[in-house]
Amino acid sequence: MADENTMPILITGGTGFIGSYLAMKLLEKEGNEDDQVLLFDCNPDMRRLTGFNERYKKVSDRVTFVQGDLSSLELVLALFEHKPKSVFHLGALLSAGADANPTLGFQVDTLGTRNVLEAARIYGQRRNMDPVRVIFPSTIASFGLFIAAGQKVKNEDIQVPTTMYGVSKVSSERLGEYYQRKGWVDFRAVRFPSVVGAARGPGGTTVYSTLMIQQPAQNKPYEAYVAKDTRLDIIYVEDAISALIQLHDAPKQSLKRRVYNIAGIRNSDGQAPQASDIETAVQQEMKKPDVGITYKVNQQLSDTVRSFGVLDDSVAREDWGWTGASSGLQKAVNAFFDDVKNYPDRIKAIELY
Ligand SMILES: NC(=O)c1ccc[n+]([C@@H]2O[C@H](COP(=O)([O-])OP(=O)(O)OC[C@H]3O[C@@H](n4cnc5c(N)ncnc54)[C@H](O)[C@@H]3O)[C@@H](O)[C@H]2O)c1
Repeated sequence: MADENTMPILITGGTGFIGSYLAMKLLEKEGNEDDQVLLFDCNPDMRRLTGFNERYKKVSDRVTFVQGDLSSLELVLALFEHKPKSVFHLGALLSAGADANPTLGFQVDTLGTRNVLEAARIYGQRRNMDPVRVIFPSTIASFGLFIAAGQKVKNEDIQVPTTMYGVSKVSSERLGEYYQRKGWVDFRAVRFPSVVGAARGPGGTTVYSTLMIQQPAQNKPYEAYVAKDTRLDIIYVEDAISALIQLHDAPKQSLKRRVYNIAGIRNSDGQAPQASDIETAVQQEMKKPDVGITYKVNQQLSDTVRSFGVLDDSVAREDWGWTGASSGLQKAVNAFFDDVKNYPDRIKAIELY
């Protein structure tokens, strides 16, 4: 069996928004100096990583990139020839992409997850290893119907999604639990609210929450497509990846279930931030009242955003000691501005799509 130290950590969707932050975090983490990461993505544009400049240069010899399509079992099986020790399965078409082309959405998001689970099962069994840990990010959009707008969504609330994206996330959650019950993989999943951070891709109905920060940080105006008083559960990307890593590292016996809600930023009154709260935080950061944000409601998008609940993560806190998102809104906006200023080349990547 290969030496654990030289076995890479596989990140599918590794050149994407969350994947790039996760890769840097894993490579820079104290005590991980020997860790290797293996990035798998259909998009070979590495700028979200190389754009970390000196930080990336220091770790680049521990990064391997493999280009490929998750919907091909053959390619995913071949990927496991790199002998990963753990898998973060982040590759997906996001909500806008999956619903614009539901067949592709099904192939990438549903079959792609099945391919990763199946390849992990075959790989683990052939090598007679402990079941491979597969960490998966699901979403608040997996709940859908029967959740009243703004309702606190409990971990075990009913999931009746209305989009191909949501349907595939629920089926991936259930399939992962099945593989787990069979003892084939060590499946662990989180359900994120909207993740905000520099260089997020444009797909998804909640992207305004990122662009309200990113555009002013680049001295560009931004017209939000929701009303000022629209609330949304949002989490800063660094907290999202902390949740992925902490759940990965949690002792098996602490996990009473395999899928966990992760709550986002809360105002002092316990509510999720309104669009106007994001604008205020940007004004504070830029130290001026006019930061170039205007509002023009797109009714359809706005109604969808308003239909989301807010996630209750008490079960993650109880089971594996998740202490909640550490960034409040102002801290998240400050860190976001720093990333835009320090790593502008990462942002260019999203303008390609
Ligand atoms: N961003 C959010 O707000 C959010 C919220 C909840 C869950 N998630 C989940 O987190 C994960 C990462 O999201 P992200 O925001 O980084 O999105 P992203 O679009 O930046 O990253 C997804 C990556 O998957 C890759 N990909 C798409 N189709 C592929 C295919 N057929 N084969 C291989 N790679 C493919 C893309 O090229 C992209 O780099 C996704 O599973 C997403 O559903 C994201």
